[in-house]
Amino acid sequence: MSIEIPDGLTELLQSFTVEVLRNQPGDLLDFALQYFIQLKENQRGSAFDNARNSANGRAGDNVSSGRSVNFAEAAVQIDSENEEDDEEEEFVAPVINRFLRRSSVCAEAFNPDEEEEDKDPRITHPKTDEQRHRLQEACKDILLFKNLDPEQMSQVLDAMFEMTVEAGEHIIDQDDDGDNFYVIERGTFDILMKADRVEHVVGSYDNQGSFGELALMYNTPRAATIIATSVGALWCMDRLTFRRIIVKNNHKKRKMYEAFIESLPLLTSLQVSERMCVVDVLSSKTYTDGEQIIAQGATANCFYIVESGQVRITMNTSKLKKEEGEGVEEEVEIAMCTRGQYFGELALVTNKPRAASAYAVGNVKCLVMDVQAFERLLGPCMDIMKRNIVNYDEQLAALFGK
Ligand code: CMP
Repeated sequence: MSIEIPDGLTELLQSFTVEVLRNQPGDLLDFALQYFIQLKENQRGSAFDNARNSANGRAGDNVSSGRSVNFAEAAVQIDSENEEDDEEEEFVAPVINRFLRRSSVCAEAFNPDEEEEDKDPRITHPKTDEQRHRLQEACKDILLFKNLDPEQMSQVLDAMFEMTVEAGEHIIDQDDDGDNFYVIERGTFDILMKADRVEHVVGSYDNQGSFGELALMYNTPRAATIIATSVGALWCMDRLTFRRIIVKNNHKKRKMYEAFIESLPLLTSLQVSERMCVVDVLSSKTYTDGEQIIAQGATANCFYIVESGQVRITMNTSKLKKEEGEGVEEEVEIAMCTRGQYFGELALVTNKPRAASAYAVGNVKCLVMDVQAFERLLGPCMDIMKRNIVNYDEQLAALFGK
């Protein structure tokens, strides 16, 4: 008796196996489930658009013009073309994200076997000392650059070029192809996203930060529109340099942090590929004993995960005491965070100034994520964070008897 192999079975299993090998998922069954569900979704071409429209409707409900958490549901999408780097790869792992506007994936479209830097000429835009100084200032807090070695950083600085913008100018239009990555030197910018074909402001940049990395990282259309709301100055990096240096570096980062990220209870609600997108936007920062990481009352820009060492969270009780007529300032320890624990989420979630300070105890390494990435990627982790935020109130009540 001969057993007939159904048409397409071999290709189906091969594609799946390739994706398993590429993604090395922690939970194979979960990955398989997501993979095949998404594959089916992709087959239903028209259902795709319906899903997008209804999901867009949800995105609109969350719109806000400030920096409050809106989890704009805009992660990256499959780009089946993956023109320049992945020509030999037939398939990008389709992974469902409940929060996305359309069928989406966080795919690393970089092939480490292709030595791109050997083929492409280095791009250099000559700069005066004054320009280079301004560029270095603008780049010093850019998280995507933090893990670069000095040689890579110098290539990045060489390749960047300056652009001045007028109020109202569109720097990026949603759904366009990605050309440059942008670092803000000065100026304010609105982030807009379409929901049911209507654009809504979902966030903004105020004289710092960077944008335009997603389309270049994942070979996807632009996920949002960025419009200048004042005169401003930007530093731009072309797509090729970005891919050659930043995307290649992210590939290494994924390998380095995969196991650690997989072990974090906070991120369990994310799919494997979403966790890898988290790695892409994290950068590692070190602090020495006693160094202040967060200052109570300051504006919040970042979220932190402790990689090694301990972080002391303290609260200045002057306000509480003054209310009691004592007028004594005291810094009280309210928590200690160790490896795998996170801090700095409260102000990002509540859109308020920092409620407490954080200090390094001994040498500390933290993984840091900026507020835009926090809002974009950690929506599915909100339940866990909110549960912990409720615990903060209980801790304080226990400490201060309030
Ligand atoms: P990219 O998709 O290349 O172009 C638009 C950019 O907007 C995007 O990269 C991000 O850098 C930035 N951005 C800021 N907030 C968001 C958001 N909530 N969703 C998607 N992109 C965002």
